[in-house]
Amino acid sequence: MYTIDLTGKVAIVTGGANGIGKAIVKALLDCGAKVAIADKTDIPINSQDKVLYISTDVSKKEQVDKMVKQVTAHFGRLDILVNNAGISTMDYFIDIKENDWDKTMDVNAKGVYLCTQAIANVLKQQGEGGKIINISSQAGKNGYQLMGSYVASKHAVLGMTKVAALELAKDKINVNAVCPGIIETDMKRTERTIGGELRKVNAEAIELEDNAQVPLGRTGVPQDVANAVVFLASTYSDYMTGQGMNVTGGMTM
Ligand code: NAI
Repeated sequence: MYTIDLTGKVAIVTGGANGIGKAIVKALLDCGAKVAIADKTDIPINSQDKVLYISTDVSKKEQVDKMVKQVTAHFGRLDILVNNAGISTMDYFIDIKENDWDKTMDVNAKGVYLCTQAIANVLKQQGEGGKIINISSQAGKNGYQLMGSYVASKHAVLGMTKVAALELAKDKINVNAVCPGIIETDMKRTERTIGGELRKVNAEAIELEDNAQVPLGRTGVPQDVANAVVFLASTYSDYMTGQGMNVTGGMTM
């Protein structure tokens, strides 16, 4: 019988307090894993039996290294990393503010580099393989207007996925990415900063426009992404590495 059983496995999910990350945490727990949430949210999250919350800014090396030490000390091992924390800013390319560029690259790209490095070292020492899953985007494969820094950061995530996959293959550490399309979360909010101004965007119009762009006729929900992540965290994906799996309802092929 085919079932995804992650009993005995320990996962770290960055940005696991909200949106897609929260659905990934739930899915991993449902498969039997223990999960550490590394997020810098202000929302209070209680650690419980199988859940450890560690307030972490993934763009800060000392915080990432400390978080990884705390997780291994608490759960005794590590098996899975989901690099999910991400932010987006919107602007015309010629108007992107240096600060917005730096913020986006720091969280989306540098955060993946820092977390992958810290955790891959633990996985190598453990010597039992492991799974690293990066949440890129269809913006990691295509260009979109107004999303210059985000598109650049998500292409960087796919680049890191391929290099880490090659270098860690001999240690049986699979490194893959998920490239979601339009997913209903706070990130797809109806207020957007464009040209330094906060603009209200009509939510219903956006919804109609978004649905019309998706061949499967609906925008995605966090669970759609979590389903791909549990597959990539399981033994069913043991022969896959260095891939960017589209979860876009057919928007990107
Ligand atoms: P969200 O805004 O709902 O949640 C992001 C989470 O990351 C939050 O809990 C936030 O506190 C955390 N976070 C932000 N900066 C952080 C930092 N420096 N350190 C640690 N945690 C931090 O976003 P959503 O939509 O759930 O996005 C999750 C991932 O999926 C992101 O990488 C995003 O780029 C990607 N994605 C989202 C899509 C969408 O349509 N929502 C589409 C494609 C990709």
